[in-house]
Amino acid sequence: MTQETLLYTLPGMRDLLPDELARWQFIEQATRDVFGRYAFREIRTPLMEATELFARSIGQETDIVGKEMYTFRDQSGKSITLRPEATASVVRAYAQHAMYRGSGTTKLYYMGPMFRHEKKQKGRWRQFYQIGAEVLGSDHPAIEVETIEMVKSLLDMLEVKVQLLVNSVGCGRCRPQYIELLRADLQRMADHLCEDCRRRSVTNPLRVLDCKVESCQPYIEQLPRITDHLCEECTLHFNLFRKHLTMAAIPFEVTPRLVRGLDYYVRTAFEIVSVDLGAQNALVGGGRYDGLSEVLGGPPVSGFGFAMGLDRLVMLLPDRLSSLWVETTDLFLAHMGDQAFERALELARTFRREGFRCSLDFASGSLKSQLRLANRLNTRHVLIIGEDELASGRYLLKDLSDSSQRQLGAEEIIQHLRLPGASRHQAPSGEGA
Ligand code: HAM
Repeated sequence: MTQETLLYTLPGMRDLLPDELARWQFIEQATRDVFGRYAFREIRTPLMEATELFARSIGQETDIVGKEMYTFRDQSGKSITLRPEATASVVRAYAQHAMYRGSGTTKLYYMGPMFRHEKKQKGRWRQFYQIGAEVLGSDHPAIEVETIEMVKSLLDMLEVKVQLLVNSVGCGRCRPQYIELLRADLQRMADHLCEDCRRRSVTNPLRVLDCKVESCQPYIEQLPRITDHLCEECTLHFNLFRKHLTMAAIPFEVTPRLVRGLDYYVRTAFEIVSVDLGAQNALVGGGRYDGLSEVLGGPPVSGFGFAMGLDRLVMLLPDRLSSLWVETTDLFLAHMGDQAFERALELARTFRREGFRCSLDFASGSLKSQLRLANRLNTRHVLIIGEDELASGRYLLKDLSDSSQRQLGAEEIIQHLRLPGASRHQAPSGEGA
């Protein structure tokens, strides 16, 4: 009987291998640097939460809650869901730990996996990764612009070209009236709309605006625009938001059809898109969610934030920057003979203690095969340890960047590797002088 192989990941899930992860780690580090400048601090919430947390915040009628959540019952019979996003969790944590005490606004960011059982497509995964940020405790449009500026400056630094689309989706006061207008128009044109749109006309009319089906487009174009139906406060807020965007010199396009796939948004909604992503062109999505905390049983608090698809950002990172993330080894220790192997181990220990990235071969291969391995590891220097070197305590150090070589003792090697540009090692101030 042949057994089915188990050596595959589940559909929509993947392993991230070391070569690829170098890009991810580079982005993660850049994110920490940039977000730190804006005084955002990291938060880590559990990957699983009570299903109700997501159902109530994201909305029962959304695709995410309706058909994409990984939900199961735990041993006690409680319904648990693998998080499809992190905003609900962050708001939960903010309320649970009374983070509103003390400071006026709380700025948090997160990075990590999210889970949605979506149809597989380029740029769409069932386990995907987001970098997100949430500001709790301010309803000022300027904080929205500051947060957008933060992600935009990260993308500029990574030389990723994008476009910012903005909209206002109104509030509990003006949106219901707009939705009634929409519903009436949608009923009139129902015969011309796709099945999804017909269903959404009843369950969640705003989502019709997001339909991508070609034959629906001429009809959707005729629908009223939400920006023409905002109440006075929402209009003021949207005007001020755009004023601050202009003051920050951030180009944007008002897109009245922009609605988000989650129900918690009020007023400002935005997306950052890239033409280089193909059909799944959204890189960042976000907006304001005042009132979400109360829906979850927490205190009234304003909220604004975004999440960026890290899998998608990695696809956009230009290869020309690769020297910034390609991992290198400072020193490969090639050895000939048992005694040389032991010396190599000892020297590697010494150099690593000094902060250098060292590697050596454990298969007792020929010098040629060891050099091949050194090459694969992107090595800058190779140290050759043979019988003569063992006896003299001076080793042949080859610099592969310019093919130069020199005979040096262990301490001299450390000094040499510390020379500016000789390795990735950065001596802490005061050290190595
Ligand atoms: P979202 O628009 O659902 O918003 O997701 C944000 C970003 O996550 C998308 O623009 C996309 O880049 C990425 N993304 C979503 N689904 C997938 C997938 N299946 N595969 C790969 N990437 C994906 C939210 O999640 C909100 N929590 C954003 C937010 C934070 N709003 C306020 N604060």
